[in-house]
Amino acid sequence: MRYSIKGGSPEKISADCIIVIIWRNGSLSEEAQLIDSASGKCISKITRSGDLSGNLGETQLIHNPIGIQAKRVLLAGGGKKKDFTASNAVKMLKTCLKVTGKLEATSLHFALASAVVSDRESTWLAARLAQEAEDSIYRYNATKSKKNKAPATRMVSLAPAIGARRKNFESALKVGQTIGKAINYAKQLGNLPGNICTPNYLAKESKALAERHGALTAQVLNEKQMARLGMGSLLSVAAGSNEEARLIVIKHRGARNSRPHVLVGKGITFDTGGISLKPGAAMDEMKFDMCGAASVIATMRGIAELKLPINVIGIVAAAENMPGSKATKPGDIVTSMSGKTIEVLNTDAEGRLVLCDALTYAERFKPRSLIDIATLTGAAVATFGKHVNALLSNNDTLAKTLMECGEHSLDRAWQLPLWEEYQSMLNSNFADIANIGGPRAGTITAACFLSRFTERQNWAHLDIAGSAWNSGKEKGATGRPVGLLMDYMRRQKQ
Ligand code: BES
Ligand code: MN
Ligand code: ZN
Repeated sequence: MRYSIKGGSPEKISADCIIVIIWRNGSLSEEAQLIDSASGKCISKITRSGDLSGNLGETQLIHNPIGIQAKRVLLAGGGKKKDFTASNAVKMLKTCLKVTGKLEATSLHFALASAVVSDRESTWLAARLAQEAEDSIYRYNATKSKKNKAPATRMVSLAPAIGARRKNFESALKVGQTIGKAINYAKQLGNLPGNICTPNYLAKESKALAERHGALTAQVLNEKQMARLGMGSLLSVAAGSNEEARLIVIKHRGARNSRPHVLVGKGITFDTGGISLKPGAAMDEMKFDMCGAASVIATMRGIAELKLPINVIGIVAAAENMPGSKATKPGDIVTSMSGKTIEVLNTDAEGRLVLCDALTYAERFKPRSLIDIATLTGAAVATFGKHVNALLSNNDTLAKTLMECGEHSLDRAWQLPLWEEYQSMLNSNFADIANIGGPRAGTITAACFLSRFTERQNWAHLDIAGSAWNSGKEKGATGRPVGLLMDYMRRQKQ
């Protein structure tokens, strides 16, 4: 997709479809007014008829209006003009892209120069338009003979906001496009089936990614190397599978000698539960149990493409959780890289077992911040549903920043407490710590477990079990929380 900034009066813009806003109660935006006067009132005739009232989500398509260069005009309801918030703007953009995606229109022009997003900086809409346009053209086709048809759109242009600098808008488009592509990349990795997207596949993919980007390097540890490091916890998860585990380390060098930010992703490429086998219903969705890893790999790509002037390390703990004859059994005790012993009371609580060793490994990089991303608990789905990333942290400043990034990118996170009182739920009679804390407060006790391995670090945990994929008819990975993570990284200074 190509993006550009295009000035000029809307009636003179040539495009297959031009998009203008109609505000609530049928009041025409400045651009709609210009098209209206040039076209013999073709818009006000519609709004006066009462067929279009300008509510958010409404659209009306006009073909070949006279006096207008563009082949089509799409009237888009923007809701109350004063309430044109970021989240309303996104809803409107999504609706427009859904409608235009079904047309044989290769070029779109968004005539939104007069639109003011009430709670964002002026270039935000440009970035978000590109991000949403990328998001809207993603189709999963890798394993389909009959390919899903992607929209015909090839070019998206935007009118710069009144009085704005063109350059700033062009770079905003670039940023939004990069984030959108990173999100699609995370979706693609998430959607691939478990028999293709194995730990080794993620390793190969990461190597290939690093090949394509000068600022990235990728290093992969195999089981033997992990055993030498003492990663008994991570390896205990892979024990029941024929697929070898991998620890993937992707480095972005955007600054000279500054300490890195480190991301750690849960990369369980399929989670059967192991010996604590999951019930059969919807078990296919456990191919998405590597969406944390996908978000880390995709964010590393986004960071490299934007050439962010910081150092970032992405670590992926990749394994398959299977109930083979060598599988870890309930009651088995394993020794983590930190030296702490863990009683595996439930082999389905495997995410924390791979993450704890990856988090200990991360310590060697002396991270400025350490954030893990994991589809960790069904309890997070029960608590938040699909809309929110659960956030837990041992540092309230970091948590606050991540909440702000979530809000700004509309990839929201909400903090749960990590209070001392919960820690004793992980007591074990036979080891230093148990891997489950009982049926209550599952998201919190899972984070408590991880906190035992990050005591000396500025650490946060994102449980994305609810947000990383959609179930049902629209089943598929969402690419979250790449939007949040990109927002976070773009804020960091050298
Ligand atoms: N990958 C699952 C978490 C999950 C379950 C995400 C359902 C999304 C939907 C994780 O490995 C898991 O099985 N967690 C267990 C932990 C429990 C045994 C303490 C869970 O949440 O049930
Ligand atoms: Mn599990
Ligand atoms: Zn899992």
